Amino acid sequence: MPDQIKVRRLFSLTDAELQGLSAVLCDCVEGGASVSFMQPFSADQSQAFWRNVGESVARGERALLVAEGAAGIVGTVQVVLGQPDNQPHRGDVSKMLVSRSARRHGVGALLMEAAETTARACGKTLLVLDTASADAERLYERMGWTRLGVIPGYALLPQGGLCDTTYYYRILPPTDAVLDNPVWHALISAQRGMAQLHGLAARFRPDISPLAGLREPTVQALEDLRTLARPGEQLWLLSDGPLDLPPCWREVRARFIDQMVSTGGRPRRVSGFVELGENDVADMAALVELTKPGPFEAHTRDMGAYLGVRDPDGRLVAMSGQRMNLMHYREISAVCSHPDARGRGLTAPLMEELMGRIVAEGKTPFLHVKTENDSAKAVYRKLGFTVRRAIYFSIIEAV
Ligand SMILES: CC(C)(COP(=O)(O)OP(=O)(O)OC[C@H]1O[C@@H](n2cnc3c(N)ncnc32)[C@H](O)[C@@H]1OP(=O)(O)O)[C@@H](O)C(=O)NCCC(=O)NCCS
Repeated sequence: MPDQIKVRRLFSLTDAELQGLSAVLCDCVEGGASVSFMQPFSADQSQAFWRNVGESVARGERALLVAEGAAGIVGTVQVVLGQPDNQPHRGDVSKMLVSRSARRHGVGALLMEAAETTARACGKTLLVLDTASADAERLYERMGWTRLGVIPGYALLPQGGLCDTTYYYRILPPTDAVLDNPVWHALISAQRGMAQLHGLAARFRPDISPLAGLREPTVQALEDLRTLARPGEQLWLLSDGPLDLPPCWREVRARFIDQMVSTGGRPRRVSGFVELGENDVADMAALVELTKPGPFEAHTRDMGAYLGVRDPDGRLVAMSGQRMNLMHYREISAVCSHPDARGRGLTAPLMEELMGRIVAEGKTPFLHVKTENDSAKAVYRKLGFTVRRAIYFSIIEAV
């Protein structure tokens, strides 16, 4: 049976999908599953529940997966993505349901596998669930979940009578899929304190960076982002590919650039550099203006460590810094040296020091570079970076 079953993530609900999901839930409640509802449970109640789920899915708060065969939807599971600010890495697995007629054919296992893959792709590294079903307990334990313990008399069974619930958790290995959407993942995790969020969109505070991210590259997310921008303001986005812009945005510039990740180079701790602080911001801005490595705002340097080299006369001639910070990755950025100081080997040691600090935090360094910038890429390759992928960079202006 699993051969004919496909699991798919839904981002909105059609009428047919709503009916199919409602039927699965009604069947499970009728079968005695303790999944929030009491008998008698009507189709209307079920549909009202799924309509709410559909709205929550559209708001990006949860991922909804369905298992479908020739006859339509036979199973479903959700991962609740929206969590308190201090738990961006956690997801809750909920409403894992398979119609009675489709059980014991591996559909539950397929759904669980897909839920874990989806959660990882959304940057989740910890999943939690609880269940009142012995069938489900065996499934979760078979799939590597850790059993925490039982709360007795936790809920009512649909036909009445108390049942226990058993809590499980699962630690997911981090995935590099978060690097496909790095700004969003930085803004909802390590750099949440620098973020402005609305619905499916987030941006850094304007005095920090013009970088912005979308949970998904949808028109709704871009409209959400518009509420975070002033008219005429330009924001910088990184995405899989070209964006379908609604009328509230105008594309200023867009192209593919390369994303490089450190793959086991030898980061060293070096000397001969200075830590750049608040008093250096004017010099940093001047070097950025001259060499154009990327945007530099009044508080960009708050994003991480910035290191520089000054000539004997005090002039700042090279600098490198840290920009995006994710749970398991940190970006190196603002790599630049004064035209007079090029060829003196100033850049590599600064980067090695930054890489050493990132690795010491248990994270992996990554960076972005123009595809055709062969001289910079040669330096990065020597330091152990390889191109992970081409990523689409766009500057868009709020209309
Ligand atoms: C829990 C639940 C989702 C499991 O779904 P499922 O599709 O039956 O799950 P699977 O088919 O992957 O596994 C169930 C069993 O079938 C077995 N199985 C899987 N494929 C099989 C096959 N081709 N042939 C024979 N047996 C098979 C599995 O080994 C497993 O055996 P076990 O129960 O003895 O350990 C389902 O029972 C359900 O919806 N219950 C009601 C709702 C509920 O309580 N959900 C849990 C909320 S947390």
